Amino acid sequence: MTDFAYKPTLTGELVELRPVTEDDYPALQEAMDDPEVVKLTASRGEIGEEAARTWYRTRGEQTDRLDLVIVDRTSGEVVGEAVLNDWSPEDESCNFRIFIGPKGRGRGLGTEATRLIVGYGIEELGLYRIDLGVYSFNPRAQRAYEKAGFVVEGVKRQALKWDGERYDEIVMAVLAPEWKAAALRSEA
Ligand SMILES: CC(C)(COP(=O)(O)OP(=O)(O)OC[C@H]1O[C@@H](n2cnc3c(N)ncnc32)[C@H](O)[C@@H]1OP(=O)(O)O)[C@@H](O)C(=O)NCCC(=O)NCCS
Repeated sequence: MTDFAYKPTLTGELVELRPVTEDDYPALQEAMDDPEVVKLTASRGEIGEEAARTWYRTRGEQTDRLDLVIVDRTSGEVVGEAVLNDWSPEDESCNFRIFIGPKGRGRGLGTEATRLIVGYGIEELGLYRIDLGVYSFNPRAQRAYEKAGFVVEGVKRQALKWDGERYDEIVMAVLAPEWKAAALRSEA
């Protein structure tokens, strides 16, 4: 068992997840500038280049979260990020979030990245619960999360107000026993 201070590289067939560095700023900013990413993650305003660079530069020092970039193994390019945050040590739980820019979407990278970081969180960090929020207008993300083992727990009704419209936020989570049972099944 390890802890959040250690920053792993996780390698799958399609993606490699590795610790984010300041040098990843241009690729991540490009992905985040995509209008779909802006809406689907409900991003409200940019923090500016200097603050963003400082943010990425300091992720390696954090002992309560894990920020990994998603590298498309076909091109070697950074296409997005996958993060475990909002850790609650008492509950052995945390939140998960992910985004992938236009260059990396719709080819299975998101599903594999989700499986890799969730597997690491449960099997190596000893987390019992990983949860997330996904907006009702994002069925692609919901599908990717379901494929990676998340189940719908409920709905935060009309939680998001975006461009004057209100939208539901769906809460999904995966629990360690479910994950382990599914992982064992897929090995059999
Ligand atoms: C969400 C995200 C990580 C998913 O990663 P991805 O690599 O694009 O997704 P995958 O290719 O692994 O899987 C997508 C699945 O959704 C399905 N899908 C795509 N569009 C869909 C739609 N409109 N309705 C339902 N399912 C859809 C795909 O067919 C695929 O399922 P399948 O393999 O059973 O056919 C990525 O699209 C992304 O970052 N999008 C922008 C930001 C975002 O939405 N972040 C999440 C916020 S909660």
